[in-house]
Amino acid sequence: MKIAILGFGSVGKGLARIINEKNLGIIITAVGDSKSGIIDNKGLDICKILDNKEKTGLCGDMKITPELILNSADYDVLVEVTPTNADTGQPALEYIKYALSKGKSVVTSNKGPIALEYSNLLKIAEENKCFLRFEAAVCGAIPIIHALEHGLAGNNIKRIYGVFNGTCNYILTRMSDEKLTYQQALLEARELGYAEADPTYDIKGIDAAIKLVILANTILGFHKTLDDVDITGIDNIPSDALQLAGEDEKTIRLIGEIDVENEKLRVSPRILLKNHTLVVQDTLNAVTAETDLAGNVTLIGKGAGSVETASSIISDLLFIRECNGRRY
Ligand code: HSE
Repeated sequence: MKIAILGFGSVGKGLARIINEKNLGIIITAVGDSKSGIIDNKGLDICKILDNKEKTGLCGDMKITPELILNSADYDVLVEVTPTNADTGQPALEYIKYALSKGKSVVTSNKGPIALEYSNLLKIAEENKCFLRFEAAVCGAIPIIHALEHGLAGNNIKRIYGVFNGTCNYILTRMSDEKLTYQQALLEARELGYAEADPTYDIKGIDAAIKLVILANTILGFHKTLDDVDITGIDNIPSDALQLAGEDEKTIRLIGEIDVENEKLRVSPRILLKNHTLVVQDTLNAVTAETDLAGNVTLIGKGAGSVETASSIISDLLFIRECNGRRY
């Protein structure tokens, strides 16, 4: 299987490194970042490219654009991991549409395009007999889409709720356990590559809200937008609120919730008992699906991080290869 990667930040670099280290039968033929790109249809020297990126900030030649990669590289699947734009989905949306319209499957971690145009993108994929997969867009390493779509198939899902943002969870954990200030904890989360390129998406609850919209539209068949979500972030939580909650064996977590029956989506900080299932530490995400047959199913795992996100991207790539009968 040959792939082209657009986006060479924390996620793109982590993915390239892992594919290079593991013998998965995946060949990277092109990589592009916001300023440069590189193509070798026989397979790129990933160590050299990572080294170049580290030293110069560029992955390749400034003359190689994403458009050139999409048109002239030899790839079976486009891996689209550029930063999210929640308002327009661009430029990722155009890259994804272009690849799908050429019959190339797409795997993305990019939330904007899926939240904004899922049904349109799915239609293009179906018309061109290719796949659109986005496991990495929701809850990092947790295979939440696969679990809800396949693992719980046949169930009526009544409610989905939990911790959907690793950065906020990390900040709240560090403020509570290490008594860091909000700014110190945010700085750490950014340095560790957990936060979005624009971290206000995380702390204002927008990232969690986009993930709810994605689940609502892709799993539950709703037609929601970000404007339909009632959002409160963690940016106005004072440190002493966490200390006060702690004295009562409670803590605060940013919780996202889809009330399926009433079609209501909400993200807000909630006070929970410290031993509540959803009170997870650091970048962990924890999501409970309330169902009619299986009862409550809770999935817990790392919700942010380069290797963790790469895990979901690789699982999508291998799923596509499996569905295609290992044609490549
Ligand atoms: N910034 C996101 C988070 C990354 O912290 O959850 C994964 O979507």
